[in-house]
Parts: sequence; structure tokens; C-alpha cells
Amino acid sequence: MKKIFTSLILIANGALAQEAALDLTDLHSYADQTVPAYIAPDNTPANNPISDIGATLGRVLFYDKRLSKDSTVSCASCHQQEHAFGDTAIASTGVGGTTGRHSMRLINTRFSREAKFFWDERAATLEAQTTQPIQDHIEMGFSGADGDPDLSDLVERVSEIELYQVLFTAVYGSPAVTESRMQMALSQFVRSIQSFDSKYDEGFVATQNINADFPNFTAQENLGKSLFTSPLRPGGGVGCASCHSPPTFDIDPASGHNGVITSLEGVEDRTNTRSPSLRDVVDGEGNPNGPFMHDGSKATLLDVVNHYNAIPAATQGLDRRLGGAQGPPLSLNLSENLKEALVAFLGTLSGTSVYTDEKWSSPFNAANEISFVVLPAEVTFDSDVVGGARNVTLRAAAVPRVTYLLKTSSDMENWDAGVPIEATAEGELIHEMVAAPSAKFFRFIYPSAE
Ligand code: HEC
Ligand code: HEC
Repeated sequence: MKKIFTSLILIANGALAQEAALDLTDLHSYADQTVPAYIAPDNTPANNPISDIGATLGRVLFYDKRLSKDSTVSCASCHQQEHAFGDTAIASTGVGGTTGRHSMRLINTRFSREAKFFWDERAATLEAQTTQPIQDHIEMGFSGADGDPDLSDLVERVSEIELYQVLFTAVYGSPAVTESRMQMALSQFVRSIQSFDSKYDEGFVATQNINADFPNFTAQENLGKSLFTSPLRPGGGVGCASCHSPPTFDIDPASGHNGVITSLEGVEDRTNTRSPSLRDVVDGEGNPNGPFMHDGSKATLLDVVNHYNAIPAATQGLDRRLGGAQGPPLSLNLSENLKEALVAFLGTLSGTSVYTDEKWSSPFNAANEISFVVLPAEVTFDSDVVGGARNVTLRAAAVPRVTYLLKTSSDMENWDAGVPIEATAEGELIHEMVAAPSAKFFRFIYPSAE
């Protein structure tokens, strides 16, 4: 009779953080994060739910500079955790120059009703979006044009990195690297980036009523909330919420452009009808997480409010809520007090954990390496031997014929140097101990940089 125990019984995790190890037996929580009950939209497709292991692979890819042509740029170069996964530069620097639009914050991308991505919504899904920066001549340089390598070259490069063979095997059961596997993992990681621990959330939880004054808000913040959320009416609200709807503050999928119509190159561009969520536009101290709008033309939130206070012109495609089609451009005539109140309210939408949580940080050490990977293993106790010592078998899915290490420890803190163990041609690591083992704890590791 065989009993299967979970790997955690024998395969233990030590204090790994400073070594930049990836412990696949003790993953960060990406799949089961708490989403407040009042958050409804969710653009997760049925075939790509977030899993802890999938998002972990996505995290590694997101921070890996080897995904760019000359290995100098990762997704995180332009989407920085300390700036809500945005960039403080107006245009971000890629391998081939600077981007044509300002980088977008990646906060709560999962919770947007508009399920098409980029400022101009040209990516049909988040999955499709994630490999486009890799294929952009300026951003990561695998465009296949202008002398660039193409995406198949990138796929080949990633396939040849043994660490990825190990990780793809752990996630997908085989080491094959494909564009679709990369897209699934990257979008699981991006969708996992969520921020719901703001002052706004506290106030909403306390009142369950967006129209009530929030007890934890200042009078100015409550005034700003009322202006933002109430419909446009002379002397009343300014109607921001009709496009940036609470409580997600995502963009109305039907929005036209908002009158910001000049590209970074200075030519007219009326295609920008998506906005990232207005959560975390500023950090906890109120500093902008980068300039605003697709052209980065508004340095501060006051600049943004001044734009809506007097939309420059009623150009083609301007949303009718801002005076497009029939009307003169919106002109609010807000007093400085009311403008400041709107700015103060926007500051209440920022969370804290998204800036610091390790699960969204780089898994690489200063030398751009991951020291080692701890594999999940299955432990089987064979209790057939009556009165004798029990046989113990450890098994793990692995890359065929790649050499791993079996390490032992008596305290889960200090591990020995380990003995090399080669995976079978079928991709299995097997270790059988005939008698009761003297060391108490065992684990298989992949020594990526030891
Ligand atoms: C060189 C800078 C740069 C790099 C590298 C980069 N991005 Fe971006 N990202 C941008 C810019 C700029 C935009 C907006 C572009 C546009 O709309 O035309 C953007 C937009 C996005 C969006 C759309 C967000 C939304 O709400 O619509 C996602 C998602 C995203 N990037 C993810 C990634 C991922 C994943 C990677 C790595 C594979 C990556 N980015 C690499 C600069 C970069
Ligand atoms: C008709 C829909 C609409 C209304 C109403 C509207 N916005 Fe916007 N907003 C947009 C669009 C579209 C963008 C992205 C435009 C771009 O970058 O070209 C945007 C961008 C923004 C941004 C910049 C986001 C970023 O990541 O850079 C802020 C901040 C903002 N709006 C605040 C407001 C405020 C405050 C109000 C009310 C005074 C308001 N909006 C009213 C549609 C709207």
C-alpha cells in the first residue's frame, strides 16, 4: 500500500530570499488574492486563469532582460514596481530608441471592462498584447524587420536557457517554449498585479455607499469625490466617473478621445481612447507615477484637471461628454479650490502593497541570476515491509537528462552540497531510499547559478 504525501513534508524551504532562489514548493499567492466583493469586471479568459506557478514563470519573464535583442531591456525597464508599473520618463527607453507613447501603469489590468489593451486599444486581448513589446523594433527589438531578429529567434533563445526548460516543465509539463506559453504566463503575472488597499477602499468598506461622505476622508477629499462621481451639471459634479467608473476607475469601453490629440512626435493622433485605471496615478506620498496621458504631456494631476477644465478644441472623435460632435468643448470654470479637491480625491485611490510586495518584484539577484530553483516533489512511503524500515521514494517532473542536485538537511535551514542526480529520458527525477533515511529533509534543486 502506498501513501502519497504532499511534497512539503520532506521538501522544505529555508530562508531563500537573499539568494534569489525560486522555491516552487512555496509559491507566492497570485491566484487566491482577495478581490473586494464590490469589484465586478474581470477580463480573465476561461483558458488562462491565474495560477501561482504560471504567474511565477510570468514574473521571471517580465524581469528578464534576455527577452530583448541586446539583453539590456526587460518589461520592468518601462513598467517599474516603484511607479505602479509605469515609468517617470515621458518616453521610455528601449533597445532601439525611445517609445512613441508614454508607458502605461499596469494596475488592476484584470479588472477593466475594456478588454482591449494599449492607449489605442490595438491589442485584442492581454495575452496578445504581451508579446508585442518583444516584437517592437524600439522596445525589445525582435521585430523581424530593419535587420532585427524575429520572434522565432527569441523563442529559440529562451528555449536554449536551461532555467526556462526547468520552469516551463514545472508549469506546462514539458520544456517546450512557445509564444502562446509565454503569453499565458506573462499575462497571468500582469493580471495578478492588483491594488485595493487604498484610503478609498477603506472609506467604501466603511459606508458601502459611494455617495456618502467617507469617515476617513478629509472634507476636501469628500468634496473631490462628490465632484468626480456626480454627473456633469453647472455648479454640481464634473462627470469624470462617467468615463473612469468607480470602484475600479477603469475606462468606459465606449469612450472617445479626451482632447489630448498630439503625439510625442508632434503629429495629430486621435486614436487614444483607453486609459489605465486611475488607481495609483500617484504614489502614497502624492508623487505622480510618471506624467499623464498617452503623450505624457501633463506632469501633474493639476495639469490634468486644467485640461478638463477647458478642453482646447472640439476635434473629430472627441467624446460627446467632453463636448464632441454637437457641442462646444467642455469648459468647467472650476475654482482653484475645486481643482485642488479633485486632485486630493485622486490621491485617495492609491494603495500601498503593490509598490513593495515581493511577489511583484524582480526574482533576479544583482548579477541578473536566479541562484537555484527548488522543485516540487512527490513523496511516497512504501509501508509494505512489515516491521522493517519503510522505503521512501522522491519523484519530481524534470527536464530529460538534465542534472539536478538532491540536497539533505537535518533542520531545513542548512543544506548539504547535494549529490548530482540526472533526470531520466522520460523527464523524471527519482530517488529511492531503502532504509530509513538518517537526514530528515530532502529536496531536489536545479542549480541555475551555483
Ligand atoms: C521600452 C519600454 C517598454 C517595454 C520594454 C515594455 N513596455 Fe509595455 N508599454 C510601454 C508603452 C510605451 C506602452 C503604451 C504603448 C501604446 O499604447 O502604444 C505600454 C503598454 C503596455 C500594456 C498595456 C496596458 C493597458 O492598460 O492597455 C501592457 C499590458 C504592457 N505594456 C505590458 C508589457 C509587457 C508584458 C512587457 C514585456 C514583454 C512590456 N510591456 C515591455 C512601454 C514598454
Ligand atoms: C469622455 C470620457 C472621459 C471623461 C469624462 C474624463 N476622462 Fe479622463 N481620460 C479619458 C481618456 C480616453 C484618457 C486617455 C487619454 C490619452 O491619454 O490620450 C483619460 C486620461 C485621464 C488621466 C490620465 C491617466 C494616465 O494614466 O495617464 C487622468 C488622470 C484623467 N483622465 C482624469 C480625469 C478626470 C479628473 C476627469 C473629470 C474631470 C476625467 N478624466 C474625465 C476619458 C475621459
